Amino acid sequence: MNIQTPKDLNGHASPTALHGTNEAMTSEKATDVAMQDTLLTPRFYTTDFNELDAINVENVRHDWDTLIGQMEADPNKGHFKKNADWDTVDWDGMEPALRAEFIDFLISSCTAEFSGCVLYKEMKRRGSNPDITQLFQLMARDEARHAGFINDALREAGIAVNLGFLTQQKKYTYFRPKFIYYATYLSEKIGYARYITIFRHLEKHPEHRFHPIFKWFEEWCNDEFSHGEAFALLIKTDPKLTESRQNRLWIKFFLTAVYGTMWVRDHQRPVFHEALGVDVTWYGMEVFRKTSEISKQIYPFTLDIDHPRFRKGLDKLQDANVQIAAGKRQRGITGKIKQFIGTARAAAAFAVLYSIPVVHHERPASTMMEPAY
Ligand SMILES: [Fe+2]
Ligand SMILES: [Fe+2]
Repeated sequence: MNIQTPKDLNGHASPTALHGTNEAMTSEKATDVAMQDTLLTPRFYTTDFNELDAINVENVRHDWDTLIGQMEADPNKGHFKKNADWDTVDWDGMEPALRAEFIDFLISSCTAEFSGCVLYKEMKRRGSNPDITQLFQLMARDEARHAGFINDALREAGIAVNLGFLTQQKKYTYFRPKFIYYATYLSEKIGYARYITIFRHLEKHPEHRFHPIFKWFEEWCNDEFSHGEAFALLIKTDPKLTESRQNRLWIKFFLTAVYGTMWVRDHQRPVFHEALGVDVTWYGMEVFRKTSEISKQIYPFTLDIDHPRFRKGLDKLQDANVQIAAGKRQRGITGKIKQFIGTARAAAAFAVLYSIPVVHHERPASTMMEPAY
């Protein structure tokens, strides 16, 4: 899972904190970064496992069995292993600013993947509903592979996130099951859109592939796609989840929060995106476009990402985040004031984004989709 949800809105773990210093990243520091709980860093989640366990999937049984069958066949069983395609990485020769941002990207991705693993595994452990426990076990299997593979890549740079320590010590945020569905559904689908957009771009521009891990993204994103399919089905088991007025407001909230956080977080890594040859603004809009298109399978509307206030709102959110990060670095009372004003501006920018009318559409009879990008 790559939940970029309400977890994120200010840049404590920002690689900018490492810029301009010669501070070397160590495993201890990497684990500290992974331990941080800000609005912009991946969190660990817990929920009402009994409520989740009580889900009845009979009204989506046909699609459910098809999806579980595909996941059980485990097409990516042997994928997350280094092979001859894994070129040697010159970590020492990497430009320091790129190295700092890339390591930050890997730590944050590893934490996000592992966050999914922890939540899914716990559901499998606590549940007794065979449909639910089977699904969550399959998803935990995939996320454990993803997190482990990223940690392997980090190890080559002499760093590893202590995942056992995180499981024990990282704070868990409680979300009601329906919020888990809304947020995790989106996080899985946006994760797919992010990985596949980078993969397709690097297919055309292999000269920008500065690390071999990107070669693994295609099969990887198909796992995330399947996880998203599973959450679409879970949401579909209860029509109220997408029909009631209150829940529609929540769906809009999560769409706005997930898109907003991704935008802000990616803009914190300019050197990383430049090395990939990716314009970060183009990338953000492209990922939103794909995610919106996919989410039509279950959500009754999409955000109007072409509305003129949408880009303006995102840019305001980004400016506010820069101010918050500057306030954090400055410390003292002036720093605190800067942070306070930045936070107020971020809230105002979020309100602007939230106020944009959504685009309604018809939904298909079956949610099932194939990864098509
Ligand atoms: Fe996932
Ligand atoms: Fe994953």
